[in-house]
Amino acid sequence: MHNERHDELIMRIENQKIYFDQVPAADIAEAYGTPVYVYEEQKIRENYRKALRAFKKYYNDFRFFYAVKASNNPALTHILRQEGAGIDAASVNEILLAREVGLGGEDVMFSGNFLSDDDLEQGLRSGVIFNLDDISLLPRLLRFGKPEILSFRVNPGYGRSNVGDYVTNAGPRAKFGVHPDQVMEAYAMAKDAGITRFGAHMMPGSCITDPDYFALITEMLMDLVGRAGKELGIHFEFIDLGGGLGIPYKPDEEGLDIEETAARVAEVFQRKVKEFDLCPPRLMMEPARYFMGDAGYVLGKIHAVKHSYTEILGTDIGMNVLARPAMYGAYHHLYVDGREGEEKRRIGVCGQICENTDYWARDRMLPVNSTVGDLVVADNAGAYGYTMSYQYNGRLRPAEVLVNGKEHVLIRGRETFEDMLRHTQVPERLRS
Ligand SMILES: Cc1ncc(COP(=O)(O)O)c(C=O)c1O
Repeated sequence: MHNERHDELIMRIENQKIYFDQVPAADIAEAYGTPVYVYEEQKIRENYRKALRAFKKYYNDFRFFYAVKASNNPALTHILRQEGAGIDAASVNEILLAREVGLGGEDVMFSGNFLSDDDLEQGLRSGVIFNLDDISLLPRLLRFGKPEILSFRVNPGYGRSNVGDYVTNAGPRAKFGVHPDQVMEAYAMAKDAGITRFGAHMMPGSCITDPDYFALITEMLMDLVGRAGKELGIHFEFIDLGGGLGIPYKPDEEGLDIEETAARVAEVFQRKVKEFDLCPPRLMMEPARYFMGDAGYVLGKIHAVKHSYTEILGTDIGMNVLARPAMYGAYHHLYVDGREGEEKRRIGVCGQICENTDYWARDRMLPVNSTVGDLVVADNAGAYGYTMSYQYNGRLRPAEVLVNGKEHVLIRGRETFEDMLRHTQVPERLRS
């Protein structure tokens, strides 16, 4: 079922029944209802360790910062903290979340974009590493004080993704990062302001399964950093290559060769360190999908089977629960509990939301006998799943459950009607 990227399959199908680690999907549905996000703890750990082993093998001074935007449940964040990861935060609230799991200071990178004055002030007070997205932010930040260490997010002029422009995070059409022509000026300005410790960062692409891409972006960033380091006489303490380590979403897709990627990146990195005669910086990356993506699933249920212009399975996995298909045409493989291995035909799949973009799989090969009450599992939903869910149509956010061996535990309760009304107020005059 999974690509060979992982040594062990955790979600498995036995006698047509789906298991998360050793827990039957039916038990999860019975205990917590549907739709529900399910995460496999051992798989998160296995993904993390595999990647860390690969990068450390080729360059020992290496660290991962987990981009917590992908899946921000504190229980999941603790798992990665236990494994040794820092946190990459996109907002002040994500900095607070990092603190909640015991991480702060230089264990946290703040890579937000278009930061407000309030973001800048609170970020500075928290002591995390700023990773500024634009040169104009520096004078604004300096009004609140001088950071201990500073990094800029560079847009090297090139980016890539597996879902078109949607998550291509660098290049001329991207909103992110400092233009290469402004990089020297940005670090010169920081040096003039008395900042003495520096890093550099970029995040040009998402879900890339081609090692060549990682070698290329390393070269691009190292050329910019090397020139700035030499000309300005500054030392870069770290180089952060961002995230982007890809996973396969479709069953026939190739996974990323993490060993090859780590070897290629380390080779370019070390060659450039020599070429520019740099004091070797720490090498960092801040992936999320690679750790979480295939360790999470949405478990839902079929509530209706419609035979109209086409055949459609009406499930409770809608765009409100799993937004990626409607947002960027992303693919999530589907399994039907108790029916895998049976005859299949092309069937559509939708959720319960009043939008036709919620008709999110048009012609999937699915078991012909799929029927009301059957459980369905959307695969690879552990990253950018729950954190992108929302309450449209009064369909509230699902629960989250963590599975470890035979154990399962609720790590976030299902939203209630009270949650839907939380923070609303009705002026008295409207009540009469
Ligand atoms: C700044 C930054 N770093 C890291 C990531 C993680 O990316 P990925 O999940 O592709 O590894 C993201 C994702 O959008 C990001 O915006």
